[in-house]
Amino acid sequence: MSIAGKVAFVTGAAQGIGQAIALRLAQDGADLALFDLKGDTLGDTQTKVEAEGRRAISIGGDVTDKAGFEAAVNRTVEELGGFDIIVNNAGIAQVNSIEEITEKEFDTIFNINVKGVLIGTQVAAVKFKELGHGGKIINANSIAAHETYPMLGLYSATKHAVRAITSTAAKELASAGITVNGYSPGIVGTGMWEEIDRRFAELTGAEIGATYKTYAGGIALGRPSTPEDVAKFVSFLAGPDSDYMTGQTPLIDGGLVYR
Ligand SMILES: NC(=O)c1ccc[n+]([C@@H]2O[C@H](COP(=O)([O-])OP(=O)(O)OC[C@H]3O[C@@H](n4cnc5c(N)ncnc54)[C@H](O)[C@@H]3O)[C@@H](O)[C@H]2O)c1
Repeated sequence: MSIAGKVAFVTGAAQGIGQAIALRLAQDGADLALFDLKGDTLGDTQTKVEAEGRRAISIGGDVTDKAGFEAAVNRTVEELGGFDIIVNNAGIAQVNSIEEITEKEFDTIFNINVKGVLIGTQVAAVKFKELGHGGKIINANSIAAHETYPMLGLYSATKHAVRAITSTAAKELASAGITVNGYSPGIVGTGMWEEIDRRFAELTGAEIGATYKTYAGGIALGRPSTPEDVAKFVSFLAGPDSDYMTGQTPLIDGGLVYR
C-alpha cells in the first residue's frame, strides 16, 4: 500500500496497458481518475478499480484538448479530493514507410503522442504546484524511443520526442518536488499491436500474426509482455521507492533492446 490515499489520473485507461496500470495503482491503494477518448468503455476499468475497494471516476475526453484536460483534472480534485500522480499513457501507433507517410498521418500522431503528453505534463505540473505539493508525472514511451524500426519511423519519432520532453520537464520541475519519468515497453499484446500487425499485413503482404510473432521472437525472456508486466514498473514509478529517480525512461521489454 505504498501509495495508499493518493489520487492517480490515467489517460488511455479504457483498455490495454492503461487499464492494467489503473488496476495496479488501485491495488496499491490509490483512487483513480480514468480518462479516455472512448469514455463509454471506461466502465469496465471503473468496475475493476471499484472491486479493489478504491474510488474511481470515468471521464471521456481527448488528450489533445488542453481545456478539456484541465477540466478533467479539476473534476478529479473536486470529486476525489486530491491529485498526486498522472500517467500520460494514451498513444497511437502508425505503420508506413518514410516515402509514403502523409502529412495527415504526421499531424495526427504528433498531436496525440507528443502534444497529448506535453499537455498532460503541463496540466499536472500547474495543478501540483497550485495544490502546494510535489507529484509524479509518468509518461508512456516505447522501445521505439531507444531504437528505430522500418515502417515505424513516425511512431519512433514521436516516442523520441516524448523522451526529450520527459527529461527536460524533470530538470525544470525537480525544485518543485515533481519527478518526471517514463516507461518503455517492448511487445505487449494489446489492441495497438493488433493494429500494427494488421497494417504490416496490408502493406507488406505478411500474414496476419506474422509480424507480431517475429518481433516477439527476439525477446530474451521468451514471451511477449503482458500489460501487467508494464503496470508493475509503473507502480514503482508512482510510489515512494522511485523518489530519487527523475528524467529517466527505462526499458521494460523482457530483454529486447539493450541501452
Ligand atoms: N502495445 C505495445 O506493445 C506498446 C509498446 C510500447 C509502448 N506502448 C505505449 O503504451 C501506451 C498504451 O498502449 P496500448 O498498447 O495499451 O494501446 P491501446 O490502443 O490498446 O490503448 C490505448 C488507449 O488510449 C486511448 N486513446 C488514444 N488516443 C487518445 C486520445 N487522443 N485521448 C484520449 N485517449 C486516447 C484509446 O482509446 C485506448 O483506450 C501507448 O502510449 C503506446 O504507445 C505500447
